[in-house]
Amino acid sequence: MEGILRPWRKEDAADLAAALNNRKVLDNLRDGLPYPYTPADAAAYIAAMEAAGPESTWACAITAEGRAVGSISVSRQGNIHFRTGELGYYVAEPWWGRGLATQAVKALCGRLFRETDLLRIFAVPFAENAASCRVLEKAGFACEGVLRKNAVKNGVVRDMRLYALVRA
Ligand SMILES: CC(C)(COP(=O)(O)OP(=O)(O)OC[C@H]1O[C@@H](n2cnc3c(N)ncnc32)[C@H](O)[C@@H]1OP(=O)(O)O)[C@@H](O)C(=O)NCCC(=O)NCCS
Repeated sequence: MEGILRPWRKEDAADLAAALNNRKVLDNLRDGLPYPYTPADAAAYIAAMEAAGPESTWACAITAEGRAVGSISVSRQGNIHFRTGELGYYVAEPWWGRGLATQAVKALCGRLFRETDLLRIFAVPFAENAASCRVLEKAGFACEGVLRKNAVKNGVVRDMRLYALVRA
């Protein structure tokens, strides 16, 4: 696997839990993850990724200094969108601002356009998540619009931005 990406390993559970056990990370993700997020929660995620279909979910650890310091995944969509994937990612707070997310997005999207039949990869960050929007722009994604009042997170109505990268 390219550079900083590798498959998840069972022994990553503690590092994954440390990354996700942080409101600043969880507040920028969809609901559904527990807080506090425990090593057992992380172990269940890693087991689910190991069991996921190889043509439907591509999930990797983002690594630095040999440790898992973040997570990135693309999930194939259904029905007529079967050649579209949704991208999600996060990096543990001590590692922010070093270009890791950008490098990870470029690496995974490049690989998927080379090795799978995906035509389009999209991400939908909260509109005010400037760091995530910047990551997508640096990785070559185009902003296709603002999805107004598209979510309620922590009781607040939020706009989101639709970003996509399409096969060349
Ligand atoms: C978003 C996130 C993944 C970025 O990871 P990262 O490894 O720090 O990203 P990079 O270093 O590759 O790039 C971050 C860019 O955002 C910029 N940035 C960071 N905070 C910013 C802010 N508040 N306003 C504007 N730009 C900001 C950085 O300066 C950098 O851009 P630059 O290279 O032009 O200077 C990380 O902050 C994170 O995990 N956040 C919580 C979870 C999340 O938001 N996930 C994405 C959900 S859509």
